[in-house]
Amino acid sequence: MKIKVQARRLCREFNVKNDRGGKDTLSVLDSFDLDILEGEFFSILGPSGCGKSTFLNILAGLDDFDRGEILVDQEPLKKRSFDRGMVFQSYALLPWRTVLENLEVGLEIRNINRRGRREIARHYLEMVGLSNFANQYPHQLSGGMRQRVAIARVLAYRPNLLLMDEPFAALDAQTRELMQIELLRIWEADKKTIIFVTHSIDEAILLSDRVAIMTARTGRIKEIIDIDIPRPRTEEIRGSIDFARIRQNAWGLLKEEVQKVNALLPGGLMTA
Ligand SMILES: Nc1ncnc2c1ncn2[C@@H]1O[C@H](COP(=O)(O)OP(=O)(O)OP(=O)(O)O)[C@@H](O)[C@H]1O
Ligand SMILES: [Mg+2]
Repeated sequence: MKIKVQARRLCREFNVKNDRGGKDTLSVLDSFDLDILEGEFFSILGPSGCGKSTFLNILAGLDDFDRGEILVDQEPLKKRSFDRGMVFQSYALLPWRTVLENLEVGLEIRNINRRGRREIARHYLEMVGLSNFANQYPHQLSGGMRQRVAIARVLAYRPNLLLMDEPFAALDAQTRELMQIELLRIWEADKKTIIFVTHSIDEAILLSDRVAIMTARTGRIKEIIDIDIPRPRTEEIRGSIDFARIRQNAWGLLKEEVQKVNALLPGGLMTA
């Protein structure tokens, strides 16, 4: 199978101010190695602050890295590419455009004519249950609705590499489950590569071919778990023995890392 994304010994450091008015170097990713296959649904789990968004931002061309290399389709990562799409951790909509016009942004880039754009935008808006809000502006929507618009926008754009940073975190529990199943349906129809960051182990297992667990900062891949549950998948698999077995394994690996982070917090939430 073809490799879509290769990260080799990737390092990212930030300069941050310290209490003494000087600067410290914060090492976020270090010797980060990862291969993601073409057409794969790949999820990343890891404690808060371990570098998940940093990695996605680098892949999206929004941030630089300091050392190492990233190849996309066997070529060095390009800063600009129309082949990638990103859903951000917090919805990034254009406030001066209506909901429908926001959905059309990517379609304009693809040079789709006005009628075609409207048709596609309406289709995806209906899919996320927001047909009645086509002519509203983002500030007139709730947080969860805005995030659904951001998701619909990137799905309408149909990028070859879809980067999703906790896309469902702002949704209510019921909408989140519906969106998970909808995303699975869309992905199964055209099998574009998806890299999906989440804090939900269940969500990662339900959706993914493989799930990577990251270490606490400095972030590295700790382990990759194969999700050998047959597709197409439905919500029912949550009750299966296989699901429980994988969840237990994933939580065991993740818990160690979360505890490391909490041990560093003032007054430590957990004592390891
Ligand atoms: N531009 C920046 N300048 C300085 N530090 C940064 C910058 N961006 C991120 N960081 C730091 O890098 C670390 C990793 O941040 P990142 O957003 O990648 O974490 P994350 O794994 O996505 O966490 P979360 O699960 O909370 O979203 C954090 O300690 C953060 O403070
Ligand atoms: Mg993040």
